Amino acid sequence: MQNIRAQFPILKRKVNGKPLAYFDNAATTQKPVSVIDALTRFYREANAPVHRSVYSLGVEATERYEEVRTEVQKFINAKHAEEIIFTGGATESLNIVASSFSEAFLKAGDTVLVGDSDHHAVIVPWQAVAEKKKLKLTFIPVADNGVIDLAAYKTLLKTKPKFVALTYISNVLGVINPVKEMTALAHKAGAAVMIDAAQSVAHTPIDVQKLNCDFLAFSGHKMYGPTGVGVLYGKKELLERMPPRTFGGNMIAEVTREKTTYAPLPAKFEAGTPPIAEVIGLGEAIRFIQKIGFKAIQKTEGELTAYALKSFAKIPELSLLGSKNAQNRIPVFSFIMCGVHPHDIATLLDREGISVRAGHHCAEVLHRRFSITASVRASLTFYNTKAEIDRLREALIRTVKKFNG
Ligand SMILES: Cc1ncc(COP(=O)(O)O)c(C=O)c1O
Repeated sequence: MQNIRAQFPILKRKVNGKPLAYFDNAATTQKPVSVIDALTRFYREANAPVHRSVYSLGVEATERYEEVRTEVQKFINAKHAEEIIFTGGATESLNIVASSFSEAFLKAGDTVLVGDSDHHAVIVPWQAVAEKKKLKLTFIPVADNGVIDLAAYKTLLKTKPKFVALTYISNVLGVINPVKEMTALAHKAGAAVMIDAAQSVAHTPIDVQKLNCDFLAFSGHKMYGPTGVGVLYGKKELLERMPPRTFGGNMIAEVTREKTTYAPLPAKFEAGTPPIAEVIGLGEAIRFIQKIGFKAIQKTEGELTAYALKSFAKIPELSLLGSKNAQNRIPVFSFIMCGVHPHDIATLLDREGISVRAGHHCAEVLHRRFSITASVRASLTFYNTKAEIDRLREALIRTVKKFNG
């Protein structure tokens, strides 16, 4: 893993005179040299528009772009390449589903389930759609350990929702929800299922056919790829019946003064010039992950998880939100500290070169569930080290002493 760490140039830099310890990977991961090089190589040697050119450069760019679609298809084991829609990120993917699925399939009075641990990128689009279409939005509660409350979920399914949004891994608590089982239960109750996989894609292998979800969304930049690109997976038979959300070039079959007919999948949902370089960078990120392999990733991250939990347990003032168990989670930890505001903690840690997040992490509903308004989040990935966790622990102890005497 030290060798892999060396592939991330930014990890060598100093912040405020101290070596950077980057613990904000749930917000965005750093980029390996192979991804950075793929982007610059594309702009230096291969830049051209896709889908509309007969000249060689444009044809090459189109081939590369479409190859990545096939790579993503294999990465998440989708049945068809056209089930992979490139978007600007998970947020856009989740918005497309909320607005397009509801327009195609939902009517006033229908129930939609979202979750207390969902990111705002799930909750807010569905709130907007629910208001417009007079849908009933119900929240699936989480248990004290942060996992979705299965018993409550089963009871809610008796209300016969038409749509269920599930978060695979909470961006605040790091807990892995049993989404496969929950998807099967939702289908039995007659609901379509969308999985927000923004926090899982870099940490766990994803197989959409095994999960049997109807939609799944993630971002490139949380999996060592570039910003500005994401993926929406959707079952072909559903996407084909759903209306496009953005209108313009590339998504049409024919345009006359009277009427436009739309292109088949995936173009129907990819209006305008797409993020070409970013898609190519995403392909490189997938190759980077596959070279390391999820087995090695999960082994290293499991060790970091256990070590971090042990380290946090040595600080009596620190209260971890959700599960304190190393099993069934990724190394994402949110906590509060007696007598110190999260923003003060983040500011003092930054002076020591340690980057953590403070606030509600786009999950206000979840923070209210735990009767707080903000927390500190340290989110790790395989390139973090035990030595960095030691620095974090020591810095937290110093911070508490400074504030509490
Ligand atoms: C669980 C979850 N869903 C969705 C998103 C939105 O991703 P993006 O901001 O890349 O669109 C995030 C980002 O933090 C997230 O953690």
